[in-house]
Amino acid sequence: MEKTFLMVKPDGVQRGLIGEIVSRFEKKGFQLVGAKLMTISKELAEQHYGEHKERPFFGDLVEFITSGPVFAMVWQGENVIHTARQMMGSTNPKDAVQGTIRGDFGLTVGKNIIHGSDSTESAEREISLFFKDAELEEYSKLINSWIY
Ligand code: PPS
Repeated sequence: MEKTFLMVKPDGVQRGLIGEIVSRFEKKGFQLVGAKLMTISKELAEQHYGEHKERPFFGDLVEFITSGPVFAMVWQGENVIHTARQMMGSTNPKDAVQGTIRGDFGLTVGKNIIHGSDSTESAEREISLFFKDAELEEYSKLINSWIY
């Protein structure tokens, strides 16, 4: 089953948007397999955003993502990587269409509420940076044990 890493950023957490965001992915039909509220260390932030380290906004990005709790999640389902990015909307909220998370709740690119993996490789890398295997659930086992 395809998995992706999604994270409500500090602005989304402080604005009380965790429930709204989780609800959108649940209603779409995806399954939440792991989640935690956490404060990211500078080291983890630099690793997570490593591919952007030469970009002018890198320092601001690391400072922002470590500025307060984030809600880190792993979701699974068919085409979840691509569909979650569509549901998030464009990176810059001014370009994000209404109905997407950034289109509905964001104003500026620096504080755009949510992060989502952009490829299979990124998803695998980001999931393993934030979660141990034992922190991820397997629904097939749970459902079987409840029904039978
Ligand atoms: S993307 O989605 O990777 O193509 O977007 P990109 O434009 O390359 O941006 C990469 C991440 O950097 C964030 N970003 C910024 N943060 C602070 N200030 C400025 N000016 C800025 N520009 C881009 C952007 O939100 C992306 O973060 P994530 O968490 O991946 O969405």
